[in-house]
Amino acid sequence: MTIASLENAAPLRADIRRESPRLADLADQIAEELEGRYSAIVVDRLNIDDFDLNTKRRLLYALCLALGWPTPTDKVGRRIIWDIKSRPLPKGQVSTFSENMAEALLHTDTQYFPHPERYTILYVVKPAQEGGISMIRDGRHIREALEQTEEGAWALSYLSTNKLPFRIPTSYTAQRRQDIPEFTFAPIFSDRPLIRYRRDTLEAGLAGCPEYRTAEAKNALRILEGVLDSANDVLTTSLPADSVLITNNHEGLHGRTEFDDPERHLIRIRISDVPPST
Ligand SMILES: [Fe+2]
Repeated sequence: MTIASLENAAPLRADIRRESPRLADLADQIAEELEGRYSAIVVDRLNIDDFDLNTKRRLLYALCLALGWPTPTDKVGRRIIWDIKSRPLPKGQVSTFSENMAEALLHTDTQYFPHPERYTILYVVKPAQEGGISMIRDGRHIREALEQTEEGAWALSYLSTNKLPFRIPTSYTAQRRQDIPEFTFAPIFSDRPLIRYRRDTLEAGLAGCPEYRTAEAKNALRILEGVLDSANDVLTTSLPADSVLITNNHEGLHGRTEFDDPERHLIRIRISDVPPST
């Protein structure tokens, strides 16, 4: 099977769904759960760990294509299937979570693009020997927690009606140059996505666009941060080899604790629920 470019994904998607009804059923079940009460689900064992790495990538791609429309994040390489593994970067590039071993605070993916993908999958090829624990937080719970207090309700309203700047990581900008910043301006809360958030791209955006760094914005973000990682509402789980975490990236946040194992290896694919031409 050839990994499809975006242009010829539609016929391959139709082929996969027709030729493999069980895969189509699995994808439909995943979508149904993620469009219902869950913002993330974990499949403990996908049963593809006996295959070589390239076959694993292709099987995951087939699952994603049955689910929706896998997308490239990187504007230059147009890569769809990403290996999440620590790696040294060329001088001048700022690393992103997929490239380092630091803690990744709760975030949604591609919050720095105008239209973040609806779903993301993270397949575990090799977990970290220690650390790298996954964290998951439901965006609807965050909204409900904010609505409980007067200042929370104010912050929710502010962050729903005011756009803030998210700086696009250098790896994903057109020129990949730290001195040529690119930003996306969007509210944190909206109808779709229900939430977009990542603290460091927002802080970098506010540093690059200081006119947005008002006292009100800072206060609203402080209140949001106060409810975001409330220990009782964050689900933590250690994902074993051959498991997969699938999130509704519009409604749930994910993160991971730090780890110290350069062999940790995950595969990530982001999936839009709309075809690329619409
Ligand atoms: Fe992420």
